[in-house]
Amino acid sequence: MKVLITGGAGFVGANLAIALKESFENCEVLALDNLYRKGSGLNLPRLKRHGVKFIRGDVRNPKDIETAAGADFLVECSAEPSVLAGKDGGTDYLVGTNLYGAVNCAEFCRRHGTSMIFLSTSRVYPIAPLLKCAIRKGRRRFDFAEKQNVQGLSPEGVSENFPMQGARSLYGATKYAAETVLLDYADAFGFKLVIDRFGVIAGPWQFGKADQGIAPFWLAAHIFGKKLNYIGFDGKGRQVRDFLHIDDAARLIIMQMRNPAKFAASGNGFDGRIFNAGGGRGNSASLLELTDLCREVSGRKVEIGSVSETRYADIPIYISDSSRLQSTCAWRPKKSVLRILQDIHGWISGTPEAKAVFK
Ligand SMILES: NC(=O)c1ccc[n+]([C@@H]2O[C@H](COP(=O)([O-])OP(=O)(O)OC[C@H]3O[C@@H](n4cnc5c(N)ncnc54)[C@H](O)[C@@H]3O)[C@@H](O)[C@H]2O)c1
Repeated sequence: MKVLITGGAGFVGANLAIALKESFENCEVLALDNLYRKGSGLNLPRLKRHGVKFIRGDVRNPKDIETAAGADFLVECSAEPSVLAGKDGGTDYLVGTNLYGAVNCAEFCRRHGTSMIFLSTSRVYPIAPLLKCAIRKGRRRFDFAEKQNVQGLSPEGVSENFPMQGARSLYGATKYAAETVLLDYADAFGFKLVIDRFGVIAGPWQFGKADQGIAPFWLAAHIFGKKLNYIGFDGKGRQVRDFLHIDDAARLIIMQMRNPAKFAASGNGFDGRIFNAGGGRGNSASLLELTDLCREVSGRKVEIGSVSETRYADIPIYISDSSRLQSTCAWRPKKSVLRILQDIHGWISGTPEAKAVFK
């Protein structure tokens, strides 16, 4: 089997590439990346050690993707993944990579009959209906109320039936537009496509920043004694997300690749379907709760300020309802938020290159 991972030196791409090498015998894995993300270059020695071939290339350039001709699968993990991207500057890079880059990947799949797994995001769900949800405001966290008037929403979280009208951030819009085009490409040209809408994914080798990769960012601030801020929603740190360990995300993608019967059945199983995939209610935490866990794992406390003003495209709570996925297959997230932070802590403490990025 030959697999091309675009964005293959990034957090998800590199961890998935290594997991593939460990899971399949005789699997050639190609990681294509332009090293745009700070820290991605640090994955190259790891990829090499595990026998993953690195291609320095850009998804905006079809010729670069073509160097992987003959791939059985293309897993599209490249992106400008910040929810703030494009807001205060040019949108060229964001649209060029997230939308046109994904279309270039689909063109590759069309030409070569390659199957595609597209890493989409919970950020495709629009903000206005998310802000309209009934929320229970607890002292330490927000929760979805039992009774909701919005379709596709329950205390378990947001399902794929959630309304799709409304602005969703430039990042979310590029991913949603890519999903739409890919679905039609797969339908028109007959290649297999899986779209996974992931909630927050976290784990080792994630070079997190305030606007993307909150778990390592928050923990690293504890380890290195840096001041943090609770931003938005009264500045009290009650906003909630669900967290999925990178190992659980990689296990899902590998399961989707391993299951050709489900995968090939047109209109059934995984083919052409969209799935929410996240840690779920049981693996969700508010920033306040994340702080408690970071204190426990790092053994340190840091000063945390408060900024009441809410940032562009921010939402008070997002939890993935993955029941469609879970009724289709046996996948369940296994690793807790605490375990995610312990694994990140082990990685940062034991990796000088990681320390240098976060310090
Ligand atoms: N990490 C999360 O919480 C999360 C959640 C939902 C969805 N996703 C999606 O998963 C995918 C992977 O995200 P990640 O967290 O690994 O981000 P990341 O930034 O770590 O990885 C993305 C990689 O793509 C590369 N890249 C950027 N522009 C490129 C281009 N034009 N050509 C080639 N490579 C390019 C970057 O250098 C980086 O290595 C993205 O599609 C993202 O939208 C991530």
